[in-house]
Amino acid sequence: MKENNTLQNNTDQQHSNISTPEITQLIRQLTVQSSGGEQLSTSSIHKFWSTQPVPQLEEQSTALDEGPIEPNKDPEDIRKQPFPLLPQFEWTECDIENQEELEEVYQLLNANYVEDDDSMFRFDYSGSFLYWALRAPGWRKDWHVGVRTVSSKRLVAFISAIPSTICIKGQQVQVVEINFLCIHKKLRNKRLAPVLIKEITRRVNQRGIFQAVYTAGVVLPRPVARCRYYHRSLNPKKLIQVGFSRLGPRMTLSRTIKLYALPKDITIVGLEPLSPQQLSSARDLLAKYLTRFKLSISFSLEEFSHWFLPRKNVIYCYILKNEEGVVTDLISFYELPSTVIQHEKYKNLRAAYSFYNVATSVPLESLMQNALILAKQEGFDVFNALDLMENETFFKQLKFHPGDGFLHYYLYNWRCSTLPPSEMGLVLL
Ligand SMILES: CC(C)(COP(=O)(O)OP(=O)(O)OC[C@H]1O[C@@H](n2cnc3c(N)ncnc32)[C@H](O)[C@@H]1OP(=O)(O)O)[C@@H](O)C(=O)NCCC(=O)NCCS
Repeated sequence: MKENNTLQNNTDQQHSNISTPEITQLIRQLTVQSSGGEQLSTSSIHKFWSTQPVPQLEEQSTALDEGPIEPNKDPEDIRKQPFPLLPQFEWTECDIENQEELEEVYQLLNANYVEDDDSMFRFDYSGSFLYWALRAPGWRKDWHVGVRTVSSKRLVAFISAIPSTICIKGQQVQVVEINFLCIHKKLRNKRLAPVLIKEITRRVNQRGIFQAVYTAGVVLPRPVARCRYYHRSLNPKKLIQVGFSRLGPRMTLSRTIKLYALPKDITIVGLEPLSPQQLSSARDLLAKYLTRFKLSISFSLEEFSHWFLPRKNVIYCYILKNEEGVVTDLISFYELPSTVIQHEKYKNLRAAYSFYNVATSVPLESLMQNALILAKQEGFDVFNALDLMENETFFKQLKFHPGDGFLHYYLYNWRCSTLPPSEMGLVLL
């Protein structure tokens, strides 16, 4: 979530040289390390995940057994009642079209969602962002699952699913994207997360979907990919003040500000916000581009409109078109601020996160430099990107630095060999 100050400068190269078997090995080591060093089996470390249809950490998969781990269930065999909770809790469906209930989800996440390892920053997804992220085409209220206390009706946990289609090594698979799993800090380590995960799985299975995709900072059985966050300072002074970045060796603040300075205006003529007239052409451009990656998302036109039409403070998308009006290039980023925990001057850090980018008429590097300029104009403090798709190709030139955070991608009920980040064409919010 923040720059890794000890690793700056030359890690970009080191990271890109890690091979797929090495990634698998690294993930195994990390799991053993996280359990205290001795050799333990997945089932003794992961009491819950070892019971789920996911590849186990010690498992060797070959191309031959790729695909579903468990066959689809008969609707009759799917449990009809919700999983039991302790008597002081009850299930709830969060109606995010109701302003008050959306606010409850926002408040739960604002105070309890993902933090960096040093508890300096916590994701602060805005209400309008959650409204967008949870109302993807085909969304269902019963997939916005909450837990309340029986006595005060306070919302204390949440998990969500939205429908999606992904393409894994040429095969289209209907999935749900699981997101916003969150348990109130006071209720941690009580094995509530497995109940939430089993309950959302039951509700999704009831609708005939048996695969899911999700991401987590932690290592669980078993990542299909391990990606790293990279950060590009837009407002270095503030980033240093809040402890997101540090002054480099032999650097002064004024030299640092100069180093990260950007042109005031965009340098690519014709770059304009995506508008409804270009949806179909822009979607086609992205769809064609994403076929390059072993694991990617497939957007219908309706989904593409939902995810890419610009919404202030949520999603930004710009395109270039040729003389015939065909979209040739696309950049997009979403807004995900973080709360700065315990800082007297700053409460908030405004971060733009790279979404999907396609360059065909200009170099990707100049397109992304223009993304930085646009993000700076919008008042963002930092521009973040994972090292997936072709992102690594522009990190160095555009002065991105590796962060301290990794993001692991997971598939539920689908066996697939580990992929390097450059084979990933999927960004989850
Ligand atoms: C993630 C979170 C919901 C887990 O809850 P918890 O109270 O710490 O853990 P519980 O005792 O309920 O459950 C532990 C089980 O959940 C698993 N788990 C922990 N984090 C998980 C995650 N992000 N995704 C899936 N499973 C997770 C653990 O591995 C463990 O299962 P195991 O025994 O098989 O290993 C909670 O820590 C939280 O809200 N954290 C802040 C928000 C966050 O990180 N959300 C996840 C975003 S990816």
